Amino acid sequence: MKKACKNVKESQIEMTELVLPNDTNQLGNLLGGRLMHWMDIAAAIAAQRHTNRVCVTAAVDQMEFHHPIRLGEIVNLKASVNRAFNTSLEVGVKVIAENQLTGESNVANSAYFTFVALDELKNRVKVCTIKPQSKEEKRRYKEAAIRRKHRLAGIRTGGS
Ligand SMILES: CC(C)(COP(=O)(O)OP(=O)(O)OC[C@H]1O[C@@H](n2cnc3c(N)ncnc32)[C@H](O)[C@@H]1OP(=O)(O)O)[C@@H](O)C(=O)NCCC(=O)NCCS
Repeated sequence: MKKACKNVKESQIEMTELVLPNDTNQLGNLLGGRLMHWMDIAAAIAAQRHTNRVCVTAAVDQMEFHHPIRLGEIVNLKASVNRAFNTSLEVGVKVIAENQLTGESNVANSAYFTFVALDELKNRVKVCTIKPQSKEEKRRYKEAAIRRKHRLAGIRTGGS
């Protein structure tokens, strides 16, 4: 087995954004595309912190928007590397919307991103493994392998 070079906490990140008028649609809700952009950035930072390489987005699993996030709300994004494979790694991103006037927070969205690490010549490079420690990290690690299997089977069969 390959040596695990980092534990999960070493690359976890938290990013915070404030929803401003330019981020919203005509109803005053955060644009889905803007949220996906923030999620991609948060996930990329975690992937790069783990690998110390430039990482490109290879795939994003299904994304659903359960609750609208409103103008003026705070968006907290938490990104964590679930598992590193050969040249790719899976990063989970959780989005928590916070209304500072009411003090309420709720999970608005979450998604899994797959990144591939590249070297200076844009060639794919091997990434080091990650060592899950907590019960939660171990569960995510185990489930990431199952998701990867489904993901890659989907590519081979041309499914989504
Ligand atoms: C992502 C990219 C580097 C993959 O290169 P490739 O030559 O197709 O590589 P391979 O098919 O050999 O796969 C490389 C790794 O990526 C994984 N991968 C590739 N496509 C994937 C997909 N659709 N979903 C999940 N994993 C994928 C493979 O499983 C493999 O992982 P492993 O090394 O850990 O086993 C290449 O397709 C690319 O540069 N894409 C554009 C990236 C980009 O610009 N992103 C921003 C979007 S605008």
